[in-house]
Amino acid sequence: MTHNMENQNKTNTIIKFPTATELPKEFSTDLILEQKHYLVNGTLKEWKGLTENVFSPVCINNDGQIKRFRLGSYPLLGEKESFEAHEAALHAYNQGRGEWPTMSVKNRISCMLKFVKLMKEQRAKVVAYLVMEIGKNLKDSEKEFDRTVEYIIDTIDALKNLDRNAGRLQKEQGIYAQIRRGPLGVVACMGPYNYPLNETFALLIPALIMGNCVIFKPAKHGVLLIEPLLNAFKDSFPAGVINVIYGHGKDTIGKLMETGKIDVFGFIGGSKTANILKKSHPRPNRLRSVLGLEAKNPAIVLPNADIDLAVDECIMGSLSFNGQRCTALKILFVHHTIINEFLEKFTSKMEKLSKGMPYENVAITPLPEFEKPEYLGELIKDAISKGAKVLNQNGGEIVESFVNPALLYPVNATMRVYHEEQFGPVVPVVAFNEIEEPISYMVESNYGQQISLFGKDSNQMSELIDQLVNQVGRVNINSQCQRGPDVYPFNGRKDSAEGTLSVGDALRVFSIRTMVAFKEGEINQKLTTDILENRKSNFLSTDYIL
Ligand code: G3H
Repeated sequence: MTHNMENQNKTNTIIKFPTATELPKEFSTDLILEQKHYLVNGTLKEWKGLTENVFSPVCINNDGQIKRFRLGSYPLLGEKESFEAHEAALHAYNQGRGEWPTMSVKNRISCMLKFVKLMKEQRAKVVAYLVMEIGKNLKDSEKEFDRTVEYIIDTIDALKNLDRNAGRLQKEQGIYAQIRRGPLGVVACMGPYNYPLNETFALLIPALIMGNCVIFKPAKHGVLLIEPLLNAFKDSFPAGVINVIYGHGKDTIGKLMETGKIDVFGFIGGSKTANILKKSHPRPNRLRSVLGLEAKNPAIVLPNADIDLAVDECIMGSLSFNGQRCTALKILFVHHTIINEFLEKFTSKMEKLSKGMPYENVAITPLPEFEKPEYLGELIKDAISKGAKVLNQNGGEIVESFVNPALLYPVNATMRVYHEEQFGPVVPVVAFNEIEEPISYMVESNYGQQISLFGKDSNQMSELIDQLVNQVGRVNINSQCQRGPDVYPFNGRKDSAEGTLSVGDALRVFSIRTMVAFKEGEINQKLTTDILENRKSNFLSTDYIL
């Protein structure tokens, strides 16, 4: 059989890539963008140098030749342009004396409201890029956009709340004080490819609104989707407050870290990159890091669990967005007494998951990372060589960017997939006899983000809850692991994260408490009354925003 025919046969059985004429225009030719601009110091600068091609995970089937659709390109900036952006941010911050860090909260909120209004006008375009750049289905891409808008609105409300609480003077032992939260300085911000809008903005927005000045570099996939927002950034914030650069991490953010003049590193992605960048900062005590890193969240399914519920939650938990969520369930421990029923039901539901192109609103879609299919194939091969089987039909079969989900059983500690974060549609299942086995897995793991516990015995569940809350940041009862709702704390222990994010917590991590204090007495009374009554200071002020 020729290579073309093989591909043709596979596309017919496990995935059908469109032909050029079948690919909808609004998700193909309408989107092609050779991006030439980047945002520095309130100006969209033109780039004439090297660019990086952007290929969609969606492929075109040209008579059996399966090739990724080319969406365009973006600038590959270097050290010089990164330093320009850095200069602009340093200048806008001006050691805390710039317009933005000293601006009243009310005015900063007005800028953010303008931004969110302009951002909403770009919804259709950003969503279409999400679909085509990272292969997230249309419904989830729309959800990502809307969740981000909601996150910004909630952030504004949370800041108003903070500001209201800070809008009064306190008095202790004869000393008056006004305590507020102030910015930290210049923030380098990088988000992940699986939530290139939401997770990035969950760092960027609180950093900005607290008065910091930002250099933002988009993730490795999901880059073009930021372009429709560049004008919104430019038109909403003072020059230099937000700078958007493009390129390789080491040539851009890496170089800025080496200067020591980055105050906060907001990063969601892999620990390898995070650690290299963090280590290049010469004054670690001056650097605050806010990191979301790897995880290997397990599910533990106890003998008395509701199996149908556990299967449904584990399917969603392990395979939503093809398992490419940091919160995904990445290993399932199922008690040996119920393993057969669990696997049977899981396989049958898994085989019914719809597959196709992301604009078709199906569950399983092609993957954006070029090297991921091969990596997943290696994990599966390794597990099979050590005794595991793929239980579902065509499980693990690969056609270019598409990997048919694979249910692997029995998995054990000798296999790579037991330890490594697969971040893709491979579901390893381990049968356990004693509860100590999955507990030890969590205790010994390098990761500590979340866990899902399935069971109905309140005595057993409470004992497990009390032990597991000290291993992870969130124990989910009869529910999959997830980040949301975004007002809840999102963090991780060990190598999974640094700092806590939520709508409210993010405002704290990107700021520091700072206060004005004075002893009582005639001079201070006269002085502060004049400042307060005549609204002379943005900080020392009892005004509050409704
Ligand atoms: O990639 C990690 C995301 O924070 C997961 O968020 O649980 O809402 O999908 P999610």
